[in-house]
Amino acid sequence: MRILFLGDLHGNMVATEAMEQAILDAAPDEIWFLGDAVGKGPQNAETCDWVRANCHHFIGGNWDYGIGTRSFPADGYFWNQLGEERMAWLRSLPEEDEIILSGIRFRLFHGRPVSPLLKVQDDADLLSKALMKDSNGTQERFGGAVFADSHRPFFRTLDCGYIMNTGSVGNSMGVPNAHALILEGREGNVRAPLSATILSVPYDNQKAADLALKEDDLPHRDAYVREILTGIYSR
Ligand SMILES: [Fe+2]
Repeated sequence: MRILFLGDLHGNMVATEAMEQAILDAAPDEIWFLGDAVGKGPQNAETCDWVRANCHHFIGGNWDYGIGTRSFPADGYFWNQLGEERMAWLRSLPEEDEIILSGIRFRLFHGRPVSPLLKVQDDADLLSKALMKDSNGTQERFGGAVFADSHRPFFRTLDCGYIMNTGSVGNSMGVPNAHALILEGREGNVRAPLSATILSVPYDNQKAADLALKEDDLPHRDAYVREILTGIYSR
């Protein structure tokens, strides 16, 4: 079974369309959305609708909840693009889910809604917390975690399991391509080989920047443009 995980599209439809082509080639059995369809870029209704039409399972990100609940007055540009029906969908998304692949139980979530600390990538103790979940006073342990939010794809082994990040489709840091993660293994609780692939897809970054530059009301527009052209966090 081949499962593709993606997140952090952030209103960048140029990157999303490039990813769509790569997904056709990869031919996954399932696509999981791990949060942040909207915010930052200029085409939010389009990336929100793309996620709903193309993914099979859905988890909310901090931007989805922030915009969906009208938490920040500065986000009015995004509310106007999305409208009430999409915003209700965004705020209804669950915070986490799980799958079992090749006998490994994977915890799936966006990042900050579960732990504000998970933007940190180089601290193994912090990352290993992603594999432990408190539920009604007992600790559940996972063999792996797949999440988004950091906008940088990575794969690490810790003493207690695997930690994987999808990277970002529309707002990548580091290498400014569109990124996703593919896991391939045996469905269910059967010990079997597992493989992980980071999909890195080039797209027309300048075209995406030009679309943003036409939008005078896009909040933090110049920071967003610099980020998609350079991969350098700019806010
Ligand atoms: Fe994000």
